[in-house]
This record gives sequence, structure tokens and C-alpha cells, in this order.
Amino acid sequence: MGLFVTFEGVEGSGKTTLINRLYDEMLRLGYSVIKTREPGGNKISEQIRNIILDVDNCEMDYRTEALLYAASRRQHLVEVIRPALEAGATVICDRFLDSSLAYQGHARGLGIEKVYDINLYATEGILPDVTVYIDVAPEEGLSRITNSHRKVDRLDLETAAFHTKVREGYLLVAGMFPDRIRVVDGSQPLDRIYADIKEIVFAKIPRR
Ligand code: TMP
Repeated sequence: MGLFVTFEGVEGSGKTTLINRLYDEMLRLGYSVIKTREPGGNKISEQIRNIILDVDNCEMDYRTEALLYAASRRQHLVEVIRPALEAGATVICDRFLDSSLAYQGHARGLGIEKVYDINLYATEGILPDVTVYIDVAPEEGLSRITNSHRKVDRLDLETAAFHTKVREGYLLVAGMFPDRIRVVDGSQPLDRIYADIKEIVFAKIPRR
């Protein structure tokens, strides 16, 4: 089985840039590696993503939201993640179930344990081998988004208090899974963050 690596963090934490850098470096070093993202990563999951993030869907119930993320995750796991791991590739995924625990479980108030249960059903117990959580203050992350050209989605429209709860949720979840989740200080310069990430991920890859 390949190594399953996930990245987590609030909006604007720099996840995507750091993932691209890690992916490019692993490719250059000759590793078999794929990068993918949630919600999305295949046709059905991208369709579900559009429903969840559509700014017109403001009436969406929180449990509906949690179930849609879990449904999208299930399809992504079956179509993309599991086959790649079975083929021995490293899978780098931008967000996975810890996003649901922090956003839906804690910030929406559905309960981390409850959301964990529906996600274990969706993934048949498959969990990442290692999760890098990039910790940045939500104000910092959101200001980076406002200054970028990324399209605003339904969750971006939430209040600053919501995003503060998301971070609080991530820190709680990191405390629940200390062996799997590694917290990286996202306020450091990008090169320093990347060095931390490389150390964490490469320590998990079996020597060839
Ligand atoms: P993205 O901006 O990283 O593509 O993620 C889309 C949004 O979906 C982001 O606000 C985080 C949110 N999200 C959840 O609330 N729960 C989840 O399980 C996932 C994967 C994402």
C-alpha cells in the first residue's frame, strides 16, 4: 500500500501552494505520487462540491452539508484514493475527513464524534497515514484569500467567528489524534513551513 498524506487548514493557510511544491519535488525524485482534493477529485464528487459550495444554497441544513461532504468523500475514496494506494502510490490529498470534523463537527456544532462516525462509514475505516495541519490565525488566512483571485464560495461567506471555531475544531481534533496529525506553524516563512512538511512526510516514506 502507498502512503496516504492529507493536508488540513483554514482557508488561505497556504495548503495548495505547499502541496504543489511537495508533489513536484516527489515527482522529480522519482516517486509514484498523485495529488487530489476534497470535496472533488472526480466527476461525481465535483458535482457534489458544486452543490455544497454554491452561494445560492444558503438554506442548506448542516446535517445535509455533513452528509454531502461524506458522500463526496466516499466516491473520491473508491474512484481515486484507494486504487492509487493499492497501486503503491503516495496520495497527497488537500483536505479529508478532518475538515468535516473541524467544520461540520465543531464549527457547525454537529459534534466531532457524530461526524467522525458517519465518515468512518463513508471510508470503511480508511484514515490517512499522516495529516499535516497548517495552523494559521483565521484573520490571516482570510486576508490572503481576499487578496487572491479565487472565487468566493458559500463557506467563505461565514463570519469571522465561524472561522475561529474552525481553527478551534482543528486544534481539538489534532489533540484527539496526536499520532496521526502533525501541527505545523503556518505563520512561519513559506520555506520554513515547507521544510517542516518535508521532514514529516519523508520520515513516513519507506526507504527504497
Ligand atoms: P477548499 O476551499 O479548500 O477547496 O474547500 C472548500 C470548502 O469546504 C472550505 O471552506 C472547507 C469546506 N469543507 C468542509 O466544510 N468540510 C469538509 O469535509 C471539506 C472537505 C471541506
